[in-house]
Amino acid sequence: MCGIVGAVSQRNIVPVLIEGLKRLEYRGYDSCGVAVHQDGGLKRARSTSRVAELQQQAAADGVASGTGIAHTRWATHGAPAVHNAHPHFSHGPRAEEGTAGRIALVHNGIIENHDELRAELQARGYAFTSQTDTEVIAHLVDHLYAGDLLEAVQQAIARLRGAYAIAVFCRDEPNRVVGAREGSPLVLGVGEAAQGEFFLASDAMALAGVTDQIVYLEEGDVVDLQLGRMRISAKAAGSGRFETVQREVRTVQAHSGAAELGPYRHYMQKEIFEQPVAIANTLDAVQDIRPELFGDGAYRVFKEVDSVLILACGTSFYAGSVAKYWLESVARIPCQVEIASEYRYRDSVPNPRTLVVTITQSGETADTLAALKHARSQGMLHTLTVCNVATSAMVRECSMAFITRAGAEIGVASTKAFTTQLVGLFLLTLSLAQVRGHLSDEQEQQYLKELRHLPVAVQAVLALEPQIIAWSQAFTPKQHALFLGRGSHYPVALEGALKLKEISYIHAEAYPAGELKHGPLALVDADMPVVTVAPNDVLLEKLKSNLQEVRARGGELYVFADGDTRIASSEGVHVIRMPEHYGVLSPILHTVPLQLLAYHTACARGTDVDKPRNLAKSVTVE
Ligand code: M6R
Repeated sequence: MCGIVGAVSQRNIVPVLIEGLKRLEYRGYDSCGVAVHQDGGLKRARSTSRVAELQQQAAADGVASGTGIAHTRWATHGAPAVHNAHPHFSHGPRAEEGTAGRIALVHNGIIENHDELRAELQARGYAFTSQTDTEVIAHLVDHLYAGDLLEAVQQAIARLRGAYAIAVFCRDEPNRVVGAREGSPLVLGVGEAAQGEFFLASDAMALAGVTDQIVYLEEGDVVDLQLGRMRISAKAAGSGRFETVQREVRTVQAHSGAAELGPYRHYMQKEIFEQPVAIANTLDAVQDIRPELFGDGAYRVFKEVDSVLILACGTSFYAGSVAKYWLESVARIPCQVEIASEYRYRDSVPNPRTLVVTITQSGETADTLAALKHARSQGMLHTLTVCNVATSAMVRECSMAFITRAGAEIGVASTKAFTTQLVGLFLLTLSLAQVRGHLSDEQEQQYLKELRHLPVAVQAVLALEPQIIAWSQAFTPKQHALFLGRGSHYPVALEGALKLKEISYIHAEAYPAGELKHGPLALVDADMPVVTVAPNDVLLEKLKSNLQEVRARGGELYVFADGDTRIASSEGVHVIRMPEHYGVLSPILHTVPLQLLAYHTACARGTDVDKPRNLAKSVTVE
């Protein structure tokens, strides 16, 4: 999704800006751009191609300066096109006087009142050259500018409704960049003192290798960067006037985002194969089951709560949906799982004794952050996140956290983040079970043993890859696929369908197998592959009957069956044998072949596996 990098320095900063954009590339974008203060004016390069192309274009045009901003854009308002790419310049009434505008601005987020502001600025003579909501901010800052960029930005943001992180500079004030945030992340990097340099970025990762001295700006912060000095201000509670605030400078080891592919064809494949290590790392610090795995004070909270509310999006929502089965059956605590983008606007019934659990790989998903705020505003103050990024907004916002140690996930399709989330959620289940008196010492030891054996068990599933490649040939020409599962494997089926649709663009839907006859069975014919997750659990016989219903309608079955299920290959029934049934942790194992099936089908269809069309890695807008 959109990315921001900005800087003031005495050295030419363009290589740092471009490198920063490259580090953010994996998040997905459809255009990019860079603008600098040069020769007393504004200069920019923009492209709908890759950042590497932007780099060449900027070099060819001689774009070089110590003051600049750069951006990767994921289109929301206006098509992916050069004229919509950031940075945007103001084109006000002054353009008629022969200047090219004086404000350059990049923006992440969505301005909800952009139509109203656009009309007002047009009436004042501002000419718009894009369909973006962002351009209104550039013109608004220009309109309010009276010789001090900071003041103009502070006044402009008071007019904005929605979410934003912005970085802006002005033709009339070289060596100055102003940033502001509300609802979208923005960090400040402290660079080399000898260069007097400071940076802005939407993620510390963009500054990896440049500085590890990071300030996480808070909601409402405005930051003024000048050579050798910076100041952060925020509105004072009583007066509403901007006052200087102090924010902690932290040493952050941000990963570079540029992990080597090694022998793999895509990051997604690499990340699927990293799962045994990711799971082992996630379990590394776990000696025994204790609430403190989730933070100090967790025991008191776990003792007090009488229900769990899980908030998440996409794959993380499916992790939460698996956890619901665990929490209710193992910890005996009622659990509700909500899609964050729905929950945030839903008139629900709050229960202050609820443990609110957000699940997010990135820790920056706007809907999940907003859902958390909504829960808090309803008086639900016990908050915990299962997150893969220790420095993310979500970890900072929640009072407790479990950090999965999946390592950086580059592929847009989430894989190792999902399975490590499941590990974290199972540990949460066991901790709650313990506190609630539903976990004996023997059970604790047995579950820990099974958890520790998971890396080996996942490795055995990965060894099925050649058989799955063979299956993927059958899926390559298909337009549709159905996925079936039951119980805690229904969310696994949902996750399998999501993986297939997002990277292969095959329409895929998942159903609890028992639901088939209530409608979806009408879709089944010889052209409809039906992927089934078949663990050897209490629902196996029921599932077998559901498979008969499919075969009777000519549907072709592709079944991932545990070794002892006695589901055999026959005409129209293809079976890949999974290792032995893995008990309550079986959803983790059954996820892996579905990831591989989606991956190899997408490869055979020639899609951009790591950056599927229209999608972004980190969804920082609503
Ligand atoms: O970073 P998050 O876990 O909050 O992201 C949530 C979803 O956007 C994400 O899981 C998305 O569904 C993935 N692309 C799925 O592969």
